[in-house]
Amino acid sequence: MARFSKNSTVLCFWVVIVFVISSASASTRLRKFDHPTKGDGTLNFLVIGDWGRRGTFNQSHVAHQMGRIGEKLNIDFVLSTGDNFYDNGLTGIHDPNFVESFTDIYTAKSLQKQWYSVLGNHDYRGNVEAQLSPYLRKLDSRWLCLRSFIVNAEIAEIFMVDTTPFVQDYFTNPKDHTYDWRGVITPNIYTANVLKELEKALSESTARWKIVLGHHAIRSVGHHGDTQPLVDRLLPMLRAYNVDFYMNGHDHCLEHISDTESPMHFLVSGAGSKAWRGDVKGLNREDVHFFHDGQGFMSVQLTPTEAEIQYYDVFGSVLHRWNKSKLLLHSAI
Ligand SMILES: *[C@@H]1O[C@H](CO)[C@@H](O)[C@H](O)[C@H]1NC(C)=O
Ligand SMILES: *[C@@H]1O[C@H](CO)[C@@H](O)[C@H](O)[C@H]1NC(C)=O
Ligand SMILES: [Zn+2]
Repeated sequence: MARFSKNSTVLCFWVVIVFVISSASASTRLRKFDHPTKGDGTLNFLVIGDWGRRGTFNQSHVAHQMGRIGEKLNIDFVLSTGDNFYDNGLTGIHDPNFVESFTDIYTAKSLQKQWYSVLGNHDYRGNVEAQLSPYLRKLDSRWLCLRSFIVNAEIAEIFMVDTTPFVQDYFTNPKDHTYDWRGVITPNIYTANVLKELEKALSESTARWKIVLGHHAIRSVGHHGDTQPLVDRLLPMLRAYNVDFYMNGHDHCLEHISDTESPMHFLVSGAGSKAWRGDVKGLNREDVHFFHDGQGFMSVQLTPTEAEIQYYDVFGSVLHRWNKSKLLLHSAI
């Protein structure tokens, strides 16, 4: 008996040691998922945000059109910009909202691909650990949601950033909402770590296209507008490391805005369900190329030298389309 408890004490000790070591290394490097592509040097994917409403507010119609366009473009995966489940994230791993707003809605064959998701502020109002749980990945193998991580898809590297903890207002002025801040005990330390990890990953990236994706906007002319903490703390880093696109949701619309101080573009895709907010400011600004107040989604097609971005409405009609070109460096051939 005594021998047994001694052994289990030793075991506990090692479990704690392994846990401490693994969590320490996890905090210095973002997890990277290699996503093999078609092998012809191209990459196609869809971007959708702010969607989970059990099919209502035109979510099902958008899903149907995503299926159609996804088929046409033979997409490799789908990116979700967060606010995955309304109104208050998931209550737990058994919350039927997961199946009713995700599995039962995005049923098209072309959408049976990996979905990479970040969390939005609404997700933080539920049980955050549930959305991150491997249990959901067993329920629907397409699902992959983590706080901050990297998708390495050969010609593109996509840096998924957990932006909600950057917004101090959620901590200091939560109004009648409760947030699940487990894992974000000290927001200042948490966000400083995210930035440190992101900077390290960006500095090491050799991908042709560098894409950063978060829930909150850096630039938006929609309801919420710019997110000042991201303008202050994230934007300078994205410029310094030549990021091509910053993608986000949060505002329930579609937008294309160019950066005034770098070749970067801000692409908003947060129109997966409820939209038509009706407040937009700065439409006639020179850097604002496109704004759609209604439902829709975005597609991205990448080759080593061209990026083609298209925005679709609830009927699947293309509302806006443009290319960004990149010269091949001689040394790269
Ligand atoms: C659904 O989409 C149609 C077409 O854009 C629009 O007229 C309608 O208001 C939308 N419904 C909702 C609830 O947003
Ligand atoms: C835009 O980019 C796509 C690839 O992403 C390419 O197939 C197409 O030819 C480009 N269009 C123009 C006008 O350059
Ligand atoms: Zn949001």
